[in-house]
Amino acid sequence: MSRAGSGSAVRAEAATVVDAVAGQGRSLDDALSQADLRTDPQDRALLHMLSYGTLRHHWRLRWFAGRLLDKPLKAEDSVIESLIAVGLFQLIESRVPDHAAVSLTVEASRRLRRPKFAPLVNAVLRNFRRKGLETMEPQSDEALFNHPAWLIERLKQDWPAHWREIIDGNNARGPMWLRVNRKRVSTADYLKRLHVEAPPAAGDNAEPPEHATLAGFEQAVRLAEPRPVTGLPGFAEGLVSVQDAAAQLAAPWLLAAGGTRILDACAAPGGKAAHLLELAGPDASLTAIDADAGRMSRVAENLKRLGLAATLKAADASRPEDWWDGELFDRILIDAPCSGTGVIRRHPDIKLLRRNADIEANARLQLDLLTALWPLLAPGGRLLYVTCSVLSSENDEVVARFMSRHPAATEEQVLPNYNIRDLMHRKARGFQILPGRADLDGFYFACLDKKGPTTG
Ligand SMILES: C[S@@+](CC[C@H](N)C(=O)[O-])C[C@H]1O[C@@H](n2cnc3c(N)ncnc32)[C@H](O)[C@@H]1O
Repeated sequence: MSRAGSGSAVRAEAATVVDAVAGQGRSLDDALSQADLRTDPQDRALLHMLSYGTLRHHWRLRWFAGRLLDKPLKAEDSVIESLIAVGLFQLIESRVPDHAAVSLTVEASRRLRRPKFAPLVNAVLRNFRRKGLETMEPQSDEALFNHPAWLIERLKQDWPAHWREIIDGNNARGPMWLRVNRKRVSTADYLKRLHVEAPPAAGDNAEPPEHATLAGFEQAVRLAEPRPVTGLPGFAEGLVSVQDAAAQLAAPWLLAAGGTRILDACAAPGGKAAHLLELAGPDASLTAIDADAGRMSRVAENLKRLGLAATLKAADASRPEDWWDGELFDRILIDAPCSGTGVIRRHPDIKLLRRNADIEANARLQLDLLTALWPLLAPGGRLLYVTCSVLSSENDEVVARFMSRHPAATEEQVLPNYNIRDLMHRKARGFQILPGRADLDGFYFACLDKKGPTTG
């Protein structure tokens, strides 16, 4: 493909990606990885920006499109509606000059083999420019907040004083966080290396967040602008991994009082498993389980790059009879499958793909995992239940239900370090970080101890 035509080609690809998510229910990662293969490497950053941005603002853009189109397009032409959304996104949210955004988006309709829609796309985008944003402010909650109605309702119910904060956090772009492998290098030394070997671009200021030097975030480095991992010093040699700093709380929390026989029950792709091994002592052993065999291979790759070793099993953690050797664990991490409503800023497709009914199904699976794995914990042992959800149904309600049936479970309410206290919302059970707070993803943690010899 000539560079001359790449501007319209990348917009056509972005429309295809958006349509795959919004129209066909495919995941953004999946749709983008295929579109990447068809896209000039120099244009991939733009493809990602257009695809993420259009999905992040989905309801607002569709609302505008609905006002500007005389009648809805037929289902078979949904990609043109997605293309219009890509065009509107550029006009409203991007720094692409308006005239280029319009002409390249119109041209993209020809690349999508729908030349007859070029005049329509042109008319809609020009009409929008002429009318101006101010005359068309959205009226519905979905279009105002860019979230589906069911999720807005749940957020209002669970977080009456904070739902707007959560929505704003979800609609922002998350920063890129690194976790420094402390087995190989100190955070301070890695930062020095980063500044020398990968200096920030103009206006880019790589530095730890204000809390990065606090206990519990000791390995976290925040980059002002995302960059490919291939541009990170020492990535291939295992000096660093990409992991949100909130996710980096799990391993030190679980291992705060030591621990040698460790189970990570929902391990793929292995971020927290690797962190556990980076922190654990020389006598520690880790068993990492995940139900998804394909994702399990990513755990193996990640551990290999970091020079770490674990026992890996592709299995259903809620059926220990299929994989457990009968020896009790003294630490168990359940990083449970969930709605992902705390990480929407990184995965805006979650807003389109999840359904209200998924939440109760998740809650049942989460309770099953807790119930099945609790007997594998030694008396005096510790279990950390984690989700990247902000919904009570998947968090404190699951833990409360579990504890009501397991009197030997007590909640450890002391946080792993004093400095994170202000970031945490205390729930009926467990603690919640809300997305965007201190530039972190939204995570929920509940730390359960099993009464026994070492807990008194
Ligand atoms: C939140 S992700 C885990 C992320 C991982 N801990 C990390 O830090 O990289 C949840 C994982 O649970 C896995 N999962 C879902 N149901 C499971 C089950 N019954 N047993 C084991 N793993 C399961 C999913 O395949 C998914 O990889």
